[in-house]
Amino acid sequence: MKIEINLAAAVATTADVCVIATFSKTEKKGKAEVITPSLSGWSKEAKEALASAGNSKSFTGAKGLDFSFDLEGQRYLAVGLGDKKDFTIEALRRSASTVLQTLRASESLSFNMDTFAVKGNLESSAGAFTEAAHMSLYYFDKYLAVKGQAKIKKITLDSKAKKTEAKKIQKAISEATIIGESVNVARNYVNEPPNVLHSESYAKMVLADSKGIKGVKAKVLGKAELKKQKMGMFLSVNAGSAHAPQLVHLTYTPSKVSKNTKHIAFVGKGLTFDTGGYSLKPGGSMMNMKFDMAGSATVYGAFRAIAMLGLPVKISCFLGMTDNAVNEHATMPDSIVTAKNGKTVEILNTDAEGRLVLGDVLTYASEQEPDAIIDAATLTGAVLIALGTEVCGLMGNDSKLADSLKKAAKNTDEYIWELPIIDEWREDMKSNIADLKNIGGSRWGGSAKAAAFLENFVGEGIPWAHLDIAGCGDSQGHLPYCPKKGASGTMIRTLIDYARNS
Ligand code: BES
Ligand code: MN
Ligand code: ZN
Repeated sequence: MKIEINLAAAVATTADVCVIATFSKTEKKGKAEVITPSLSGWSKEAKEALASAGNSKSFTGAKGLDFSFDLEGQRYLAVGLGDKKDFTIEALRRSASTVLQTLRASESLSFNMDTFAVKGNLESSAGAFTEAAHMSLYYFDKYLAVKGQAKIKKITLDSKAKKTEAKKIQKAISEATIIGESVNVARNYVNEPPNVLHSESYAKMVLADSKGIKGVKAKVLGKAELKKQKMGMFLSVNAGSAHAPQLVHLTYTPSKVSKNTKHIAFVGKGLTFDTGGYSLKPGGSMMNMKFDMAGSATVYGAFRAIAMLGLPVKISCFLGMTDNAVNEHATMPDSIVTAKNGKTVEILNTDAEGRLVLGDVLTYASEQEPDAIIDAATLTGAVLIALGTEVCGLMGNDSKLADSLKKAAKNTDEYIWELPIIDEWREDMKSNIADLKNIGGSRWGGSAKAAAFLENFVGEGIPWAHLDIAGCGDSQGHLPYCPKKGASGTMIRTLIDYARNS
């Protein structure tokens, strides 16, 4: 799909459908704003037809309403967006997504971007539109006989703005394309079933995808290397698996590096399937546990976009990949293992496995001495109890880092909320026969107790933040730019924005 800007436009670009935004007038009048199209060359008939939309009783410009007409073989669609003062960048993302879904069977579309621009800002509006287009037209149809992909090949954004604006708007479109496509790469990984995407194949897919991105280097640590690294926690999760554990270590170095260049580490939980291990999940809860690698896909998606955007920040990205399976070698509850950093851990529940993998990877990441570490993980069911299925849980050891992430989430219109880590919970994660245990004494506050466990494996003095995406990682159907079911790709845009502003 190609998205192009057409500036100094006098008429709408001919396409299967030309889309125009309309807004409702103040509640009192309850009527659509009569749109006099901003394109000067628009035919008299088209102007009249649009005016009749504004005068129509049934078409008020309210959200969800639309009005279409044909003129000289051209189909026009006026979409109602409600109150103009409520029209924000996120409202643009959502309404563009809904319209694009409706028109997915068309091959070419043109949008009157002047009517869609939020506060007249074409640059940010074209960017948000492009992001939404890539995200909303995503469809995982690899295994379907009847493919569901949208047919849209070309979208033209018409505006009467001067041609001199072209460069910066084009830049916004290409950057948003990188972001949207990176979200979709991450979604594809999450949606792949575990018989196709397991640790070894997943690592290969990431290596293949990252190969050739400027400034990116990659290496993979396998079972022997993890043993050498003394990652006893990570290895204990992999003990019952048919596939070797893989720690994918990616680095992106920007073209210009100075003393002031920030170095950020991303860490992702890459559980390609979580059966629970000997602490086996019941069938209903096991379903969809292929998505337990969404944290790794999230940080990889962000890493990929940041590198392709060429942002001036160094990123190290660590993906801890394994499944949590059962065989005669699988780790038994009550086992005590030694983490890479030397701490001993009593494994009371093999289903609390994500923290075991992440813990060792956090220690490994700390050895690179980054300025900050951010991990993402589908870590706890408890985060859904605490924050619902839509909000990402944020925890950590540094309020400045947490604030930056909250700001980044706000900038990108994603939902995040911080949970505290209190000393009582740190205490609760201690075992009487080992340094730590992998579950707390009760299920209350489970998400932050998991974070209290992780904190033990972050290098001294390194600011660290933990994103629990167990809720928001999939099935965000309330967002028109996310599929009803399956991987959502949320928090990738937050991480990119964070990197952009740090
Ligand atoms: N991958 C799960 C967390 C999860 C649960 C994600 C439900 C999405 C939906 C994680 O490994 C897990 O099993 N956590 C346990 C921890 C418990 C044993 C302390 C949980 O949340 O029940
Ligand atoms: Mn588990
Ligand atoms: Zn898990």
